Amino acid sequence: MCGIVGYIGKNPALPILFSGLERLEYRGYDSFGFCVLDDGKIDFLCKEKGKISDQCHIKNSESSGSIGIAHTRWATTGIVTKENAHPHFDCNQEFFVVHNGIIENYKEIKEKLLNEGHKFSSETDTEVLAHLIEKYFDGVLEDAVKKALKEVRGTYGLAVVSPKDPNKIVVARMSSPLLIGINGDEFIIASDPSAIITRTRQIIHLDDNEVAVLTPDNFIISKQEKENDCWKIADKKIETIEWNIEEAEKGGYKHFMLKEIMQEPATIEDAIRGRLYLEKGNAKLGGLEIVEDRLRNIDNIALIGCGTAYYAAKVAEYMIEEYAGISAEPDIGSEFRYRKSSFNKNTAGIFVSQSGETADTLAALREMKEKGLLTIGVTNVVGSNQARETDAGVYTRSGPEIAVASTKAFIGQLTTFALIAVYLGRQRDMALVMGNRIIEEISRLPELAREILDTKEEIKTIANKYINYRDFWFIGRKYNYPIALEGALKLKEVSYVHAEGTAGGELKHGPLALIDENCPTIAICSSDSVYEKMISNIEEVKARNGKVIAIATKGNEDIKKIVDDVIYIPKTLEMLTPILSVIPLHLFAYYFADALGRDIDKPKNLAKSVTVE
Ligand code: M6R
Repeated sequence: MCGIVGYIGKNPALPILFSGLERLEYRGYDSFGFCVLDDGKIDFLCKEKGKISDQCHIKNSESSGSIGIAHTRWATTGIVTKENAHPHFDCNQEFFVVHNGIIENYKEIKEKLLNEGHKFSSETDTEVLAHLIEKYFDGVLEDAVKKALKEVRGTYGLAVVSPKDPNKIVVARMSSPLLIGINGDEFIIASDPSAIITRTRQIIHLDDNEVAVLTPDNFIISKQEKENDCWKIADKKIETIEWNIEEAEKGGYKHFMLKEIMQEPATIEDAIRGRLYLEKGNAKLGGLEIVEDRLRNIDNIALIGCGTAYYAAKVAEYMIEEYAGISAEPDIGSEFRYRKSSFNKNTAGIFVSQSGETADTLAALREMKEKGLLTIGVTNVVGSNQARETDAGVYTRSGPEIAVASTKAFIGQLTTFALIAVYLGRQRDMALVMGNRIIEEISRLPELAREILDTKEEIKTIANKYINYRDFWFIGRKYNYPIALEGALKLKEVSYVHAEGTAGGELKHGPLALIDENCPTIAICSSDSVYEKMISNIEEVKARNGKVIAIATKGNEDIKKIVDDVIYIPKTLEMLTPILSVIPLHLFAYYFADALGRDIDKPKNLAKSVTVE
């Protein structure tokens, strides 16, 4: 999500760090920072709010130090402030850390460190690392880093420098990418190849549980062995990056949209990290703690969003009504104001938005606030207007989404809503065993999502088969009705082909008039409580010579007898199927649009964030 660059060599580090960060800006851009060492002293230290590309003067600052680390941030823990920007440091400003990832147990560690007398200057999880390193430092930086890492739980790609052990950078990785670029007598570390590609194409990827120590002439990578806790030198291969800059930013994918779809399993992982209370059958949602008591008394919820975010709100309607027993009503941001809604003091509004800046959603939020009602945000961008103006909220932690078409952010919203439904349910009548069952199943979702992505070539073949059609219908029921709407929106948005989504039951109330051999239907018919009814809808389409592509549950061989093509998704709980069934629809839209040669990441007439009403 954020970006890291580090340099150690013979040249001034600052300009190299600066241009590395500029190229990482697409990963996060709310604040940035540098720490450069020279001759055992801090030569340049700076943390700022804003975009690095707006601060070109920094590149020309007086700094000749040849060892340094830098970071561009996409806020997750702690709002956007100068203090929360990286590098983070200890009490005496001697240990500097840049970090991507999340330290899940940072609150416990911070409390302990505060009791021991440490003074904190930010709200971030990362800062505990700097203080732990300070605590364990005994002359050798890497030893202190290893000791600190033993105490933390979570994910990290990190880099550390210190004037106390000045001729090195120590880096470590756990589930957050980090690589070392080798360029003769200089080494550049980065979270992403795009940061270093203009300087070198020779790289070594760090793996989980590895720590590397880089000095001006050498580097050593060691790996912690699980069995005995010992560190052994790791034998690593140098790879050559073949990508150009543009390809590197897209992780080697042709478009950001495809890259972001491929990130969907990781998006689920990020949304649930540290939030699953397996033994309590509950979700741990820190952002709702301050309104926990008010939420207990809520008896109806308005769910507001626009576009894809509105479809997430519609899925949430089914989840919250079924599992928390609270009446929930989704609405489109722009329509909300025209309604004379009968809210009472026990109404809460949940506002859903990737950007947190959508004007219509914000207008609805402000209207609800004026009525003095409880407002909750389900937002991706930390520190956005929505995040700041709601009373409480849950961040979806989906990372920057670059493509205009929202894909991974939608997955993050659905996953977050599954957690909220359990949380609200457990505040009410949901039994422990039910809570356990859902939480356990949520924890399997990343693996199930990966299974779907593994079939992407088959989905591409199916998309290519239908490339000459110009009208599509999408149908689904219950949890998958909003997914039919989302599938149609995604297809029209990126391919410019006409597509409509309806509830399966609505087909015969009008749309059937349009179904014939020229209008294929994509039917989401997972093996669940509405399966039989979806089969009836498919038969209605087939009776009009319509072609049908089914999204069905693995193991359902019978469906092949009645439809033209099948895309399988793994079995999961009915309430969680939308999180899986939408993945093939995202891929279908992508491959379809790509075959037509569309400008996928920037579809015509559309903007990523709609900040006007
Ligand atoms: O930033 P938001 O989630 O509030 O944006 C809402 C919609 O504008 C957005 O989802 C839009 O519909 C997407 N382009 C759909 O892919």
